[in-house]
This record gives sequence, structure tokens and C-alpha cells, in this order.
Amino acid sequence: MPGWAILGGLTLTGVLSADLAGILAAIIFASTATVLGRLTSAIGALGDDVDAFAAEASISRGPLHGTRYAVEQIRFAIRRLVRHWRAEVETAKARLAAAEAIIERAPDPLIVLDDRRQIIRANIAAKGLVGTLVLPCDFAAVLRNPAVLIAADAVLRGEAARSVEFTLTVPVERQLRARFARIDRPAPDAAVAVVTLHDVTELKRAEQMRADFIANASHELRTPLATLTGFIETLRGPARDDAEAHERFLAIMGGQATRMTRLVEDLLSLSRIELNEHVLPQGRVALGPLLQHLAEALELRAGEREMRIVLGVPPDLPDVQGDRDELAQVFQNLLDNAIKYGRVGTEISVGAATGQRPAAIGGSGPAGFVSVTIRDRGEGIAREHLPRLTERFYRVDTARSREMGGTGLGLAIVKHIVNRHRGFLEIDSTTGEGSTFTVLLRQYAAPPTQAAAR
Ligand SMILES: Nc1ncnc2c1ncn2[C@@H]1O[C@H](COP(=O)(O)OP(=O)(O)OP(=O)(O)O)[C@@H](O)[C@H]1O
Ligand SMILES: [Mg+2]
Repeated sequence: MPGWAILGGLTLTGVLSADLAGILAAIIFASTATVLGRLTSAIGALGDDVDAFAAEASISRGPLHGTRYAVEQIRFAIRRLVRHWRAEVETAKARLAAAEAIIERAPDPLIVLDDRRQIIRANIAAKGLVGTLVLPCDFAAVLRNPAVLIAADAVLRGEAARSVEFTLTVPVERQLRARFARIDRPAPDAAVAVVTLHDVTELKRAEQMRADFIANASHELRTPLATLTGFIETLRGPARDDAEAHERFLAIMGGQATRMTRLVEDLLSLSRIELNEHVLPQGRVALGPLLQHLAEALELRAGEREMRIVLGVPPDLPDVQGDRDELAQVFQNLLDNAIKYGRVGTEISVGAATGQRPAAIGGSGPAGFVSVTIRDRGEGIAREHLPRLTERFYRVDTARSREMGGTGLGLAIVKHIVNRHRGFLEIDSTTGEGSTFTVLLRQYAAPPTQAAAR
């Protein structure tokens, strides 16, 4: 247009003839149309490229020829931008997929709620805990506990994160801790709060066991202490000048002090074994001589009850892997019980053989175990007591056990030592006939020599 205006001016002032001005105007029109046409087609191609990038389709055309350099540059810049953006999107997608996989496979159940308390997501552990879920579904239909729902509503209203403990009764009773927290940013799937559930059954059980243990231990110590205090008062008061009473009371007090010492020793022994329970002892123990030694040491005590310990250990019994002192403690406790709870004048038989791998660890047939069986002919133990016998301080007849100086810790110590040896303890008993305690221990296997390891 400016070109045409100049030509018009020059024609009017008579500098150019009308014919020449007409020819020049036509040339200006033709060249402008050519340039504009190419520019338009280049921009059109650019538009097609952007569309193709957006649709993630490949661009088959080569670079446009004859278009203006700047347009071509813009086209390459857009291509670079799109390539970079695509790579970023791929990375973000991969990160999202990894995060989702982690949440999905997290060991703790995780549930995501929207603002209407609907479950919109739940990971595998959550589905394992509450059963199949058809999403979205109301949280109240899954966990009906009132305290849990109050906490969920409070957090959805915008209150601070909170935890609630509750009991789930089906399919098996479990103690759970639910933690509710709001999601800080608005999520595209309308997620507002996240609920994590932790199974605290074991924790609670352990807490209860610890509390019971302290209560039992204190009670066991308090009983002899009360006796001692009582006698001290008597000796200071009414029996101050009674020499005969002194003698008698001091004997009783000595017995009570011995009992307390034994209790403390047993408790320390138990805690020492528990501390090392995860470490498999590496020693080699020949059970024949060990059992022989223990039987001789207890012969006198057995004799006091007119009992006899009869050993039946084959001479070719394989050695076992273990700690000699701890295994001695196992058999001494079992023999001690057999003497205490066996009938006067009966026999205690101690047998040993190459053992069978118990079905509990998935096998049968002789597979690297040695079994030692201690059998008494006593009153036996009623079936309902058998599963609890190895609990600390559990006794069938507490008064009788105490009377005989027992702490009720013997079989707990046995169980922990056998566990440390990765062995098994089996108890079988028939009331009126007697009891059989079988200890299965692993046969000794020499550690691989360096040459073999290479
Ligand atoms: N051979 C057995 N026959 C009958 N009852 C037994 C036998 N062995 C154990 N018991 C019962 O199991 C309970 C627990 O045994 P455990 O050896 O742990 O304690 P204890 O013998 O009473 O005390 P401690 O071992 O400290 O002397 C005993 O009190 C007894 O009631
Ligand atoms: Mg005992």
C-alpha cells in the first residue's frame, strides 16, 4: 500500500507516466502476493506441525524450502519445546506410576477419602484387611466403629490429623490404629483425606505380656519377702529370747532367701537367652556324655524320691549344633520336672534318636534332627494346660510348685533355649500315666571350609 501511494504521488506530480506507474504497481502487487503467499503457507505448515505434535503424530514432511528463515526457526523451536515437554510428561508419568505402585503395595493398609467420606482409593493391604471393595463406597459401610467415623468426619471438616485405636472382630480379632490426615493440596481425583491403618495386635500383646510379666515377677518376689519381713518382726518381738525359734525361723528365712536368689537367677538367665535368641549357637555338642553327666548329677535327688533315671542313648548318636551349657540347662530343667512331678518309686526314661523333621516345618523323614525324649510316670498334665506350660510363671498347681521351690520359669527357659537352637519342643501327656517332653535339635553340620567355599 505505501508503494502504491508513492507511485500515485509521482504520477500526479508528473514524475512518472501513468503507464509506467501502472506497470510498477502491478510488479509491486505480484511480488507482495508471492511473499505473502509463501509466508501464509509457512505459517499454515507451522500450524499443522503444532497440531501433529499435539496429537503425538509423526511429521513426515521435511523442512519447508523457500520460506522465510524466521518462520523456519520458530518451527524448529516449537519442535524442540514439544520434545522437551514430552520427555517431561513421560518422566512425570513414570514417577506417578512408581508412586502409585509403592502406595498400592505398601504393607500398611491405606484408604483415600473424598469430602463426602466416600472411599475413592484403597491399596492391596486395605482390601486384604476389609475385604473386596467396589469403589467409590461409603467409609461407614467398611469400618463401622463410631470413634473411627467421628475422627474421619472431623478431619474431613478440616480439623488436625488424629489417630484412633479400635478392634476389628472379623475374620479374626485384631487391634488396629487408624490415622487420619488431610491432603494439603487439592487432588485431581477429589481426594481430601488419607487413612492409614496399622495392625497393633502384636504390639498390644507384647505390652500386655510385659505388664503381666512385671506383675508376676513382683508377686513372686513379694511372697518370700513378706515371709522374711514377718519372721524378722517375730524375731525382734515375741521370739526375741527363744533360741529354739531362732533356729527354726532362720532355717525358713534361709530357704526363702534361696528361693528369691533362684528367681532372680532364672529371670536373668531368661533375659540373657532372649537377648541372644536370634543368634544360632555354632558349637558342637555330644548329647550322650551330656545326658550321662546330668543323670549322675541328679541321681541323688531322684533317689530321695526312690526314682531311677534310665538312659537309652545309642552310642552312634550324631552330635548336635548348640551351646553345651544352654542344652545342659534344658535337660536339667526337664529332668528336674520329671523328678518333681513323677510318682515316687517310678522310673524316668531318657531316650535319644535320629529325629524326624517335624511336619510343622514342612517335612517328614529323618532330616538332620536328633530327638531327646524324657518320660516320667507321674500324674500327667491335663490337655488344656499343655499350650500354656511354657509361659513364664504358668503352673498347673501353683501352690504345689511353690512348695517345691519352683519359680514357674523352668519351661519358659527351656522353650527360649530350644528356639535359639532353631529346634522344637513337643509335650505329650496322659493324665494318670505321665508326661513325655521331646526336644528336637539340629544335627551338627561342619561349617564349609574355605577351600570348599571357593
Ligand atoms: N513332668 C511334668 N509332669 C507334670 N507337670 C509338669 C511337668 N513338668 C512341668 N509340669 C507343670 O508345668 C509347670 C511349669 O513347669 P516349669 O518347669 O516351668 O516350672 P516349675 O517346675 O514349677 O518351676 P521351676 O522349673 O522354676 O522349678 C509346673 O508348675 C507343673 O505344673
Ligand atoms: Mg521346672
